[in-house]
Amino acid sequence: MSRRRQRGFLKPKNLGKTFGRFLKYISDYKLQLIIVGVAILSSSGANIVGVYLLKPIINEYIVPFIGSKNPDLTGFIRMILLLGIIYLTGILGTYTYSRLMLNISTGTLKRLRVDMFTHMEKLPVKFFDTHTHGELMSRFTNDIDALREMISNGIPNIFNSTITVVGVFIMMLILSPLLTILVVFMLVLMLFTVRKIGGRSAMYFMKQQEALGKVNGYIEEMIEGQKVVKVFNREEKIKDGFEELNETLRAASTSAHTFAGILMPIMGNLSYVQYAITAAAGAIMAVNGIIDIGTIGSFLQYTRSFSHPITQISQQMNSILNALAGLERIFEILDQEPEEDAGSAELVYAQKDRDGMITEASEPTGMWAWKIKNGDGTVSYIELKGDVRLENVTFGYVENKTVLKGVSLYAKPGQKIAFVGSTGAGKTTVTNLINRFYDVPDGKIKYDGIDINQIKKSDLRRSMAMVLQDTHLFTGTVMDNIRYGRLDATDQECIQAAKLANAHSFIMHLPEGYNTLIHADGSNLSQGQRQLLAIARAAVANPPVLILDEATSSIDTRTEALIQKGMDKLMEGRTVFVIAHRLSTVRNADAIMVIENGEIIERGNHDDLMALKGRYYQLYTGMLELA
Ligand SMILES: Nc1ncnc2c1ncn2[C@@H]1O[C@H](COP(=O)(O)OP(=O)(O)O)[C@@H](O)[C@H]1O
Ligand SMILES: [Mg+2]
Repeated sequence: MSRRRQRGFLKPKNLGKTFGRFLKYISDYKLQLIIVGVAILSSSGANIVGVYLLKPIINEYIVPFIGSKNPDLTGFIRMILLLGIIYLTGILGTYTYSRLMLNISTGTLKRLRVDMFTHMEKLPVKFFDTHTHGELMSRFTNDIDALREMISNGIPNIFNSTITVVGVFIMMLILSPLLTILVVFMLVLMLFTVRKIGGRSAMYFMKQQEALGKVNGYIEEMIEGQKVVKVFNREEKIKDGFEELNETLRAASTSAHTFAGILMPIMGNLSYVQYAITAAAGAIMAVNGIIDIGTIGSFLQYTRSFSHPITQISQQMNSILNALAGLERIFEILDQEPEEDAGSAELVYAQKDRDGMITEASEPTGMWAWKIKNGDGTVSYIELKGDVRLENVTFGYVENKTVLKGVSLYAKPGQKIAFVGSTGAGKTTVTNLINRFYDVPDGKIKYDGIDINQIKKSDLRRSMAMVLQDTHLFTGTVMDNIRYGRLDATDQECIQAAKLANAHSFIMHLPEGYNTLIHADGSNLSQGQRQLLAIARAAVANPPVLILDEATSSIDTRTEALIQKGMDKLMEGRTVFVIAHRLSTVRNADAIMVIENGEIIERGNHDDLMALKGRYYQLYTGMLELA
């Protein structure tokens, strides 16, 4: 938020290009835009013509009426009616274009939001590593809002004002070139004054925005960290911090509005002065017979509607530039490279015929196969078993910082492979690579003998379920959240999975059982309960490969012992990668990898590693604590 507020004043980097892309977006509404153009023309045109009519009305009717005993009003009334019709057309035009622009803006914004959201779903995990939530959120909120303002107000206003200024200027020239020169001269003087005052005011407005951003950021941070604040009794301290920021905001805000406050009356008074001078000049000219009364009447009316649109244009210009800067940030997201996927191997239902040949099936058979398209157009099938191999994998999230250094390991179908090691050693990273959250060079990771880069990402991920280190629950019922693992699972299957994960008993104690609503990422559940739900979610997916990243770290030892049976059942017949904090849970693994600093320093089963009397032995016997 804070960053966004300050950046709100950034001008677009590439104005022309951004505006061009914007035009493409609204070009869906070509016909409506043409109507808008016509409506704006008729709206400002009606004003201009209406004012011009004052001249004949004054000259031909009002002036001759003066002193006449019984004037013929028919012509006058006809003129007034005409005036009425013209202004009505203007009102209709204004209504039409505002209504249509509303349509265009809401429609365009909807499309932009959809495009942005859809595109975001295609972006790689890496993108979310490098962009904060707040930053992404502000594109959907602040930037979109600025754009709404620009489409529904800014653009039609600028268009309208420009036509008015040009039209009025031409009409004034036609009426009286001499008076026009006078008006323009005074206007330049006025604008100069405004600029002088306005410039300082803009600086204070900028300071105000900056201060506001800091205040908002502070509030946001303190709301999020409320518990920590309380734990360390920092309430008074943070109040002082807030006080300080708030005072800066108050001061900046006062200065900004002081100048803005002076500006308006000055402008107002100056325009009266200008009006009076023009009227006086007109009167002198009329006395000398250079100009008639009707012309002065019209002309004076025009001068009143001349300066207003000029200030409008300069104001709207700022808000448009601001909106375009926001649009540029939106396009920045749309231009992000989507997650690449060159993989073509798909997961299909399969069956084996009598000679052991694998063929594709159209119905679930309980057997899956990888369907590989060969270069010569033929397809071949490889049974999905869950054999995972890493060969000399070296990887880093950012350049020049290797996290994994030459990791090799294999997991045969049905094996349980455990990773142990200190925090930050690289355990989660290994699993991030196996399901292609991040890419590794070709040929380094093989799944059932196939290079994982050749496997379609969605199918690869479908073949493995993951219980992530930080569980995430969605708004919805408990049942919905379990079913997230496999959308076509029946209620019965979900409950079965919950029982397997030992989540059933606590779910039954929730106010509405499986129909209890979970909100705000499961804040109404304990950390351990959330993990149990995450395990149930993985169980319902029923995949051949299972990755459990500290899945039971927040579950107490007693409950863990209780679910151990269920977990064992869940792991049965699957290839499982398990990262565990508590070493007791990995004892029965087929192979245990001890990872330190991105390297596997020891490997083997529990007995091997105990006999080795190395790192694992130290960890297990408690000589070394897992950090
Ligand atoms: N998304 C990321 N971007 C950059 N560095 C990361 C990212 N995730 C993890 N790391 C770094 O990689 C190293 C290994 O992390 P990780 O695999 O999560 O460790 P752990 O063994 O605790 O699961 C750590 O030094 C961590 O700082
Ligand atoms: Mg981890």
